[in-house]
Amino acid sequence: MPAQSLDQVVSLCKRRGFIFPGSEIYGGLANSWDYGHLGTELKNSIRDWWWDRFVTKRQDMVGIDAAIVMNPKVWEASGHVQNFNDAMIDCKECKGRFRADHLIEDKYPDVKVEGKSPEELTEIIKEKEIPCPKCGSKGKFTDARTFNLLFKTSLGAVSGEDKQDVYLRGEIAQAMFVNFKNVLNTSRKRIPFGIASIGKAFRNEITPGNFTFRTLEFDLMEFEYFIREEEWEKQFDYWLAEEQNWLSEIGIDKKNLRTREHTQDELSHYSKRTADVEYNTPFGWKELFGLAYRTDFDLKNHMEHSGEDLNFTDPDTNEKFVPHVIEPTFGLSRLTLIVLLEAYNEEELENGDKRTVMKFNPRIAPVQVAILPLSKDERLIAKAQEIYDILSKETNLRLDFDITGSIGKRYRRQDEIGTPKCITIDFGTIGDDDNQCKKDCVTVRDRDSLSQEEVNIAKLVDVLK
Ligand code: GAP
Repeated sequence: MPAQSLDQVVSLCKRRGFIFPGSEIYGGLANSWDYGHLGTELKNSIRDWWWDRFVTKRQDMVGIDAAIVMNPKVWEASGHVQNFNDAMIDCKECKGRFRADHLIEDKYPDVKVEGKSPEELTEIIKEKEIPCPKCGSKGKFTDARTFNLLFKTSLGAVSGEDKQDVYLRGEIAQAMFVNFKNVLNTSRKRIPFGIASIGKAFRNEITPGNFTFRTLEFDLMEFEYFIREEEWEKQFDYWLAEEQNWLSEIGIDKKNLRTREHTQDELSHYSKRTADVEYNTPFGWKELFGLAYRTDFDLKNHMEHSGEDLNFTDPDTNEKFVPHVIEPTFGLSRLTLIVLLEAYNEEELENGDKRTVMKFNPRIAPVQVAILPLSKDERLIAKAQEIYDILSKETNLRLDFDITGSIGKRYRRQDEIGTPKCITIDFGTIGDDDNQCKKDCVTVRDRDSLSQEEVNIAKLVDVLK
């Protein structure tokens, strides 16, 4: 049985060390979460897979790692200072603050909110008599007003001195546009080619958002793919398929995915066409990845504002033009949550016992192999340590070494963190019990089938690889 509610996954994440509430000992902070030791391994493995698949293994892609704080002129040129807005509304009774479109969507999912002005959203909320989700009062909302999502901060260490207002980046895309010329000159790539990046983006989100689904800071992986204008539809279809192909490779069931085209009203200020890949979460169908055709909007605006020539010159024909852009964007934090939701399973075993098991794709499982001496007998622990050292030296597998509790409890614990293989070292392994496994052999238990296979230690590296 997969997760029926988000709470089951939130609780497992806290219990096992995937994700904790941010600054918890001070009462936490809305929309802020910290990744624990397992959550970090999981997120980093997804990140590394993405980089390998979309950057390292492609001839038409290069990656960069850019600064979070950029010259504020970047955000004026990109249109974010002007247009990166949500409409917020306050409850006069309890002082709760909400995103006006979310208030409507949550109660009336069929009412169209995309592209509506704050005045129009206020009108719908009044007309439908939507109550405050926090205190339940009706008719106590202020009018909705525009709120810019860019996170403002200031440069300048000494108080009293003139400080410069700057923004934490609201999307990582702009670094790829402002570095277009540098990358072109140094990489000698030809159109079509992409510039990729992974990093934190920051948004002053108003509504608390379903665990890590909507947070103030989040990890993004995206690339800007530079093309000739006439190719845009072909490239759009190709990258939409690629986003979904990779999700299948990770192990996301196709039946939990769908694509949704943005309506004209809903399109971001830079986009001519956008499609979202959505996932069927316990709180409804929600955007997982996006794909936008940004035309030549960004490069043209940066050319205008910076005065730099951002044309591409075809070395064969000398044709000079501003490339158009297809932008596939993969929310890494959001994908990590979806992977957790998708992996979560509660099962009843043949003997009637119940177990919770995270069925991660082995490539991203935070622990891939657990080494478990059957008891705390010193000889078993020494043998298990020997095996740990071999695997650690001869493979890149992520290992765990666990001696605490009964073997049954340890299996349950490894199931709950999604470890694909457990290796048990018993008295047979050290030649001290004919009724257990053969001398120099261990038992390899499979997380999903629960099969147990006896493997000679000399063959263990090959079997696990
Ligand atoms: N450069 C384009 C861009 O940033 P976006 O649709 O605003 O597009 C991209 O964001 C992806 O980032 C989304 O598809 C989603 O996965 C993720 N995302 C957006 N806002 C988020 C938030 N507040 N918390 C977590 N992930 C978020």
